[in-house]
Amino acid sequence: MSIAHGIRTLGVLGAGQMGTGIALVSALRAKVPVLLHDRSPEQLTKGLALVDKLLAKDVNKGRLTNEQAKEARDRLMIVGKEEGLKGLRDVDMVVEAVSENLTLKRNIFKNLAAELRPDAILATNTSSISITKIAAAAVPDGVSAASEEGKKSASRVVGLHFFNPVPVMKLVEIISALQTSEETLNRARAFASACGKEVTTSKDVPGFVSNALLMPFINEAIMHLEKGIATREDIDTTLKLGMNHPMGPLQLADFIGLDTCLAIQQTLYEGTRDSKYRPSVLLERMVDAQWYGRKNGKGFYEYPSE
Ligand code: 3HC
Repeated sequence: MSIAHGIRTLGVLGAGQMGTGIALVSALRAKVPVLLHDRSPEQLTKGLALVDKLLAKDVNKGRLTNEQAKEARDRLMIVGKEEGLKGLRDVDMVVEAVSENLTLKRNIFKNLAAELRPDAILATNTSSISITKIAAAAVPDGVSAASEEGKKSASRVVGLHFFNPVPVMKLVEIISALQTSEETLNRARAFASACGKEVTTSKDVPGFVSNALLMPFINEAIMHLEKGIATREDIDTTLKLGMNHPMGPLQLADFIGLDTCLAIQQTLYEGTRDSKYRPSVLLERMVDAQWYGRKNGKGFYEYPSE
């Protein structure tokens, strides 16, 4: 018998590419009402415009009726800066999808633990940061993490790692923190399945399974470029056509975002102290130059119109 996820309303924190995608698949596939929160009104407007565009494309391609698209869109509501996290106080689960910054995430989870119901699941879409560290912050002020109350509060934190573009990619990687309860894990898994995703699970190691394997591959490709072994096109074409990858590794790095790739690689390197994860100097310099890839028009390639 399948386990019920029990999510009647979902909160999503962060209306960037990932948060918007998570909000869309939750409203469309899992059919749950979604409160999408971002402090930036521009980001919320951009996120909703992307949702409208993707739903309209599905209608045009005959994959959704107008009515189904409208129903999904109606399930999406926004929560702005004024309401803040208080606007999410009644949700059954929240998925945090803000930028890869431990201090920021810890602050958010401390506030979520204070604002949300004690049985609400607190999920993070982090790409590599320790779920255990994030869970340790999800304890109300004045409560010890080692007390029964502290352990219970942290036991509802879980990693729910979606892939970009969320509506297209079939996987969700689920990561248990040291504190995560079996019930949290099972409900998170049931929810990801309801979103139409295949689920894999990983222990809470730096980068989990996905990025611990992907990032050295991307970094090695950048080092090949740095050493002048081949051009960017030849590196990407070799992997695309020789190994049937949908994108070459440099294209993929641009797609993920070079700042995100560097942040993940730094987490891997610091978390394992293993030199195989040391980010390439070229990647560091490109991020120093604020060349972040597709998101701002310049990475290993140029994206003039995006
Ligand atoms: N949002 C939503 N949908 C998108 C999209 C986006 N940003 N970009 C493309 N799509 C959709 C298109 O609309 C199209 O949908 P359709 O079939 O309904 O028409 C479909 O994807 C295919 O797009 P295109 O025909 O334009 O282009 P491609 O065939 O080249 O596919 C791609 C684009 C799906 C992005 C493909 O190149 C791909 O799979 N690339 C690899 C992506 C990948 O590896 N992602 C994981 C990154 S790692 C990660 O996210 C983890 C994190 O922790 C770093």
